[in-house]
Formats: sequence, C-alpha cells, structure tokens
Amino acid sequence: MSASNTARRVLARLRPAAAPDDVLQQELAQARTRLRRTRTQLRQARQKAAGLERELKLTRASLRSPVHDLVLPDRVAAVIEQVAAEKLTYLSQENLATLATLVLDVERRGLPGAVVEAGTARGGSAIVMAAAKSPDRPMQVYDVFGLIPPPTDADGADVHERYRRILAGESRGVGEETYYGYRDNLYDEVTDSFDRLGVPVAEHGVELVQGLFADTVHPDGPVALAHLDGDWYESTLTCLERIAPVLVPGGRIVLDDYWAWSGCRRAVDEYFADRPGYVVERRAKVHVVRV
Ligand SMILES: C[S@@+](CC[C@H](N)C(=O)[O-])C[C@H]1O[C@@H](n2cnc3c(N)ncnc32)[C@H](O)[C@@H]1O
Repeated sequence: MSASNTARRVLARLRPAAAPDDVLQQELAQARTRLRRTRTQLRQARQKAAGLERELKLTRASLRSPVHDLVLPDRVAAVIEQVAAEKLTYLSQENLATLATLVLDVERRGLPGAVVEAGTARGGSAIVMAAAKSPDRPMQVYDVFGLIPPPTDADGADVHERYRRILAGESRGVGEETYYGYRDNLYDEVTDSFDRLGVPVAEHGVELVQGLFADTVHPDGPVALAHLDGDWYESTLTCLERIAPVLVPGGRIVLDDYWAWSGCRRAVDEYFADRPGYVVERRAKVHVVRV
C-alpha cells in the first residue's frame, strides 16, 4: 500500500462523518417531518370523531323519538324548563320533550282519544303532556298520590331492594328534595303545581284520579297516547290490560320503566308476547304502537 493511501485512510478515520451541527440539523428536520405527519393524523382523527359524534347524536335522537319534524312551541319548552327547575320529575328534559312531541304529533294527526298518564308522583311529566295537548282532548292522570304500593313476587330483587329502602325512609327525591312518597298531601300539591305552571287542570281537561290503578284505571273511551310510569309488575300489567285494548290505531304507549325495573320489563314482555296488532319499539324508552 502506498504511503499516500495509508495517509488518506488515517485522515478519513480521524475526520468526523459529519459536523455535529449537520447531524443536529438532520435530526431536527426528521423530527419536524414526524411532527407534521402526527399533526395531520390528529386533524384527521378529530374530523372523524366530530363525524361520529354527529352520527351518535342523530342515533340518540332517533332512538328517543319517532317524530323529528316538530318544533316545541315556546310555551311548552318553558313548562319543561320550569318542571325541571322545580324538580317535579324523574324524567330528563330530553325525555319530557319527547313526550311533548308525541302529544303534539297526536294533535297534528288528529288521532281521536284521551291522553293518559299512570304514575305521576309530583306531576312533572303529566304537566308537560297537558301543556302540549289541546285543552279539548281529555286527559286522565292516575296515581295513588301517596306511598307507592308494594311490589309482588313477580318483581325481581332490584325492585324489592328499592321498596325496602323506601319503607326504611332512605329514599331521596329529585335533587335531594323530599321523596314524593313521604309528602303529606301530594294530590293537592300536584293540583297546585298544574296551576302554578300555567296549566290549571279544570281549564285543560285534566282529571287527577286518586287511588290504586287496579281500582281507578277504567278508560271510558279510546286512548291516543299513554305514559305508563308505575314502576312495578302489577302496576304496569294492570294498565296494559286496561289501556292497550282501547288504544286507537296509530296510538302509542310509552313505558318509562322497561329498562329500569325488572317487574315492568316482565309485564311488558308477557303482555305483548304473541299479541298481534301491536309493535314493540325498543327505544331509549320502550314504546308500543297499535297497528
Ligand atoms: C316513578 S313515579 C312517577 C314519576 C313521574 N311520572 C315523573 O314525572 O317524575 C311512580 C308513581 O306511580 C305511582 N304508582 C305506582 N304503582 C301504582 C298503583 N298500582 N296505583 C297507583 N299509583 C301507583 C307511585 O305512587 C308514584 O307516584
């Protein structure tokens, strides 16, 4: 090997492959490229998430209600706000709005028949339904207006545990208010609430019927829309047996408790098993439509 070759090799070994600044610049450029790529991926992920959220909102809305082209009148929306503010209901504002929309849809379609609520407690959902209906359309509101009656063996352990807590005085009302079942004069209180919220019962064709459903629920004509919110098996079954046969074609029963309490679920499943003429819609609340 020539001396000059050896010298060249030695020099090459001594010289750094690249100046430290150059290495840093290269690394910086690579990091910037990675950052740009990550930002693009993040933007795309955000756009996808926003799309999924829009879809979820639409799915939730369609699960909640079959009616989407009705806007609530301001006065009905105001009643919903006040019911929620005064903690007169266990229902969310969205579920109250759905009930109001279903009442308005009954009016729009000109369905004959009464509006019914069985299970009203402090009156919230009944007041909203009454505010949405025409004053000429009769409405019956059924409740014991006191302590909820006991469940039966047909209810599950969930219901019996709930009832044990109610009897033990451990039940809390909405927003820490006194539980409706511990109030002294619920019938008068509910009548006053209808008045205060601008829907006096006498002027709006509403009848508050006090007593056990087994004794009181005897519709004397067709029913267009019923909201059943009596929690337990017997309470639900009694109302289904009395109301479903007089539901008009296109009329609807909304079951508040199907997903919440085992007894209600059992009553609905039993009653509508092999019963032609009704369609059970498994929505956010279960609906039954007479076809
Ligand atoms: C969950 S609360 C109703 C809630 C109400 N819809 C709201 O807007 O918050 C259930 C009501 O049904 C009543 N109830 C349940 N079973 C009954 C029965 N068999 N007879 C009469 N009232 C009953 C209870 O006393 C209670 O007032």
